[in-house]
Amino acid sequence: MTRAPSLNRPIGVFDSGVGGLTVLQALRRRLPHRDFAYLGDTARVPYGRKPPQMVVEFAVGIADFLCGLGVDFLVVACNTASAVALPALIERSRVPVCGVIDPGVEAATRATRTGSVGVIGTKGTIGSSAYQSRLEARGLRTWSQACPMLVHVVEEGLADSPESELLVTQYLSNRPEIDTLILGCTHYPLLSRVIQKAVGADVRLVDSAEVTAETVSSNFDGSPNTFEPGRVVHFVTGDPLAFAHTAAVIGGVDGEIIPLPVTELVAVTAE
Ligand code: DGL
Repeated sequence: MTRAPSLNRPIGVFDSGVGGLTVLQALRRRLPHRDFAYLGDTARVPYGRKPPQMVVEFAVGIADFLCGLGVDFLVVACNTASAVALPALIERSRVPVCGVIDPGVEAATRATRTGSVGVIGTKGTIGSSAYQSRLEARGLRTWSQACPMLVHVVEEGLADSPESELLVTQYLSNRPEIDTLILGCTHYPLLSRVIQKAVGADVRLVDSAEVTAETVSSNFDGSPNTFEPGRVVHFVTGDPLAFAHTAAVIGGVDGEIIPLPVTELVAVTAE
């Protein structure tokens, strides 16, 4: 079994890889005294192209592992997992669970003036209609586009490159008039500059990392028990060095990185 360092009632945060670090960073800015346990399932990334049932099984195994560490809140910092696995996670977990979809929908609803909202994400997220159905239930018009190549561009450290500009322009080329665009993938905030350039300054970008952190931190109002800076431990199922290297694109990793065999991420069944 993997050695788990003792953390003080950490908040559990997970993603298929490094993208969820954007959510973790936003959370730490708001909750600097809290401990966090982050899990990046880099051995099995990308989730965005996998069958939904497989992503549900991965997410449940991860949630059980994090709950075993004594987390008192679970943040699904992955749009694909939030889109397909949130009901299963809520049903199973003894702690509150927050995904990134509902905060993003809430923020887009507040941001739009014309009622026309775009959403971009992985094939899994867009195919699930998780964003579109929630937005349309609020009377908004939606346009959506899966952008599978963008995850790879970010993972390869090419977020600010001519290649990413080309891909973004291509993916967004057939959009109708929209005034708000949801970045429905945890990797996309790293492409904000390129995406804003492609859609023009009048279109508001909704970054699910920031709004999710806002939603989660509102559950932790009040004075912290300690004024010590919180600790972060990162569990990584793939190569820890590759994780640190890729994470450098988004400001690096602040805290210990612990390799974790995927075989330890199996769902805990009741006796
Ligand atoms: N983190 C995933 C998401 O937000 C993107 C990467 C993947 O496909 O696993 O959907």
